[in-house]
Amino acid sequence: EMPLLEQCYNLLDFEGVAKRVMKKTAWGYYSSAADDEITLRENQNAFQRIWFRPKVLVNVEKVDFSTTMLGTKVDIPFYVTATALGKLGHVEGEVVLTRASAKHNVIQMIPTLASCSFDEIMDAADTDQVQWLQLYVNKDRAITKKIVEHAEKRGCKGLFITVDAPQLGRREKDMRLKFTDEGSNVQRGSGEKTDNSQGAARAISSFIDPALSWEDIPWFKSITSMPIVLKGVQRVEDVLRAVEVGCAGVVLSNHGGRQLDFARSGIEVLAETMPVLKKMGLEKKIEVFVDGGVRRATDIIKALCLGAKGVGIGRPFLYAMSAYGQEGVERAMQLLKEEMEMNMRLIGARGVEELNEGMVDVRGLFNH
Ligand code: FNR
Repeated sequence: EMPLLEQCYNLLDFEGVAKRVMKKTAWGYYSSAADDEITLRENQNAFQRIWFRPKVLVNVEKVDFSTTMLGTKVDIPFYVTATALGKLGHVEGEVVLTRASAKHNVIQMIPTLASCSFDEIMDAADTDQVQWLQLYVNKDRAITKKIVEHAEKRGCKGLFITVDAPQLGRREKDMRLKFTDEGSNVQRGSGEKTDNSQGAARAISSFIDPALSWEDIPWFKSITSMPIVLKGVQRVEDVLRAVEVGCAGVVLSNHGGRQLDFARSGIEVLAETMPVLKKMGLEKKIEVFVDGGVRRATDIIKALCLGAKGVGIGRPFLYAMSAYGQEGVERAMQLLKEEMEMNMRLIGARGVEELNEGMVDVRGLFNH
């Protein structure tokens, strides 16, 4: 009675299947978010408050939505964002996402808390495949330094420092199901004992340094030449500060609703941020990414219209992986490419450079 892969017609379909077939604890960890999950819902809702102002009579026989992200050419403006504990959903873990990403020329962001080791993931990649590292900063900076230097040596092309998680959020669904440590062989980089009574997330995160601050950024710049991107920025003032300290990018993100409940959606923060950057002439100084709630190519197009360089997608690929393995992830990516081609035509844009803020109506985004 499980639907055939061919019966999944969009990214949301994978979620429905995953909910039915996944282990309860795994589903609890992947799907949960902080507190009342208001931000989780808002992430998708915010996209639904943006409407298009398409152009007609543009010759869209040929459309090309390839672009670059931190200097890497990609087929389509999304990347697989970092999500911890891949083996909860699939016995092989994150390497499944790696192999699917290779097939579609998509960048994968490798999580610090992957179930597979960092080297296993790098080894699973094609020779020319580009990967980024998501970093949780350890209280012991010597451990963090080793992780960063090793990632650079292995060819990682971007360092995404997560800045929205000085303490892990309370994901109560996950906590109720309790963490059994099944399938999660995480490389914590410390010998600390974990307390499993607080759910999967909290059990593995006690090493994260809540003292991390802006003053630490120059140190990161001194230990790596990878471009540094702050993941989890939520206000324009902090984007300006990121420019000031020389970051290559920011991800406007609320961690998929898993941290501060009532954080605004990344797409709303983007719509607030880009006009300010443009007014100050800084829009070329930093690459702005968005994640949270991206489920359709129309969501990707909306983000690009508003000035994003690309978007991150998390849960949908976890669900596709958990339900159907590598084939599922590949189909999810293929569906996005097909949606992208059609919707670029329908909005009247032949390439990502033709997308601009005049093609979206965001009046309802702020007034709701
Ligand atoms: C995450 N996310 C995340 N972010 C991060 O910086 N480090 C991490 O270890 C994790 N782990 C993680 C696990 C799971 C199960 C989820 C769903 C998410 C957040 C992630 O990178 C991203 O911000 C959101 O997932 C984007 O929202 P969507 O696409 O899931 O709606």
